[in-house]
Amino acid sequence: MKYLVAVLPGDGVGPDVVNEAIRTLNAVGRRFNHEFQYKFGLIGGISIDKHGRALTQETLQMCSECNAVLLGAVGGPKWDNPQAKARPEDGLLTIRKELDLYANLRPVKMLPMMENSTSLKPEIVRGVDLIVVRELTGGLYFGKPKKRWITKSGARRAVDSMVYTEKEIDRLIRVGWEIALKRRKKLTSVDKANVLESSRLWRQIALEISAEYPQVKLDSMLVDACAMRLIQNPTYFDVIVTENTFGDILTDEASLLSGSMGMLPSASLAGIPEGKNPRAFGLYEPIHGSAPDIAGLNQANPIATILSAAMMLHYSFGLSREAAAVESAVLKVLEEGYRSKDIMSAGMKQVGTIEMGKLIEESI
Ligand code: IPM
Ligand code: MN
Repeated sequence: MKYLVAVLPGDGVGPDVVNEAIRTLNAVGRRFNHEFQYKFGLIGGISIDKHGRALTQETLQMCSECNAVLLGAVGGPKWDNPQAKARPEDGLLTIRKELDLYANLRPVKMLPMMENSTSLKPEIVRGVDLIVVRELTGGLYFGKPKKRWITKSGARRAVDSMVYTEKEIDRLIRVGWEIALKRRKKLTSVDKANVLESSRLWRQIALEISAEYPQVKLDSMLVDACAMRLIQNPTYFDVIVTENTFGDILTDEASLLSGSMGMLPSASLAGIPEGKNPRAFGLYEPIHGSAPDIAGLNQANPIATILSAAMMLHYSFGLSREAAAVESAVLKVLEEGYRSKDIMSAGMKQVGTIEMGKLIEESI
């Protein structure tokens, strides 16, 4: 089979890690007899420099014509001015919204050989295996009104709106359910229903849908309690579904449960995976940022992006065997003691971005 992948390396370490994910996909292609073709485009600061905006219509069009999108990272100090008209992050928000990538899957797994690479106690993180399903195209990020102005009395004021429609909540929560069905069948819906109206609607819809999935156990949890439980008793969780901003914050926190942000992949899907039609169009990216301080230095950990490519194989191409081969290759290389700088610990062998990519390629 032939698969067309749009590649948007972006800024900072984006190109470094994306190169290694491409190396991985090519290795999968050779071993399993698939052909991956790539179309490259700009996103983020590099696109602002060239075109004056973080994502052009042409690039967006190119992405929508491919089978999936592989993305590196956006942003950097060069484009950080809060007064600037164009911001690198706009590129990310635009592509998410325009391609309707509403379901953001962020799996967090503590691998046995990584227990000593976290700042948390090994006995707390041992066995962590959860996935956050974050709503990605609604809530505070996109709700209107969203503006800043000066009042009649001359004071500055600003507003963002946490808006959710029934449809937006319903479709996201269903993704959580479908994923839970294939896992340990436990779904935690996270909200702030003691304060927010949008959360009360969220909680009600979660309860209503739960009647359709008797095999899955649903609990609703307040976001502040969830933030605490995540580091107090993280093995409590199987699948978490939550709105955009809560999911953003909780997944940075949860990334520590896997050792390093450099390990965490993500998939942003435009449809329900795992259901009757398991393939969904998606965008795949590491959850870490552009780390401009180490860009181009062959230091970044490519594993998050390589595992994102594995998620692409599974969710967008339906190639589960191939995805599993990538995951075992990563495990093998880690078991052999190879570490990038961010996850380096005593007695391990430190390697650069490219070496790590090549070791994983060989292992596939
Ligand atoms: C993420 C990032 C983005 C977000 C930023 C870069 C806009 O933090 O993917 O989690 O807030 O969604
Ligand atoms: Mn984030």
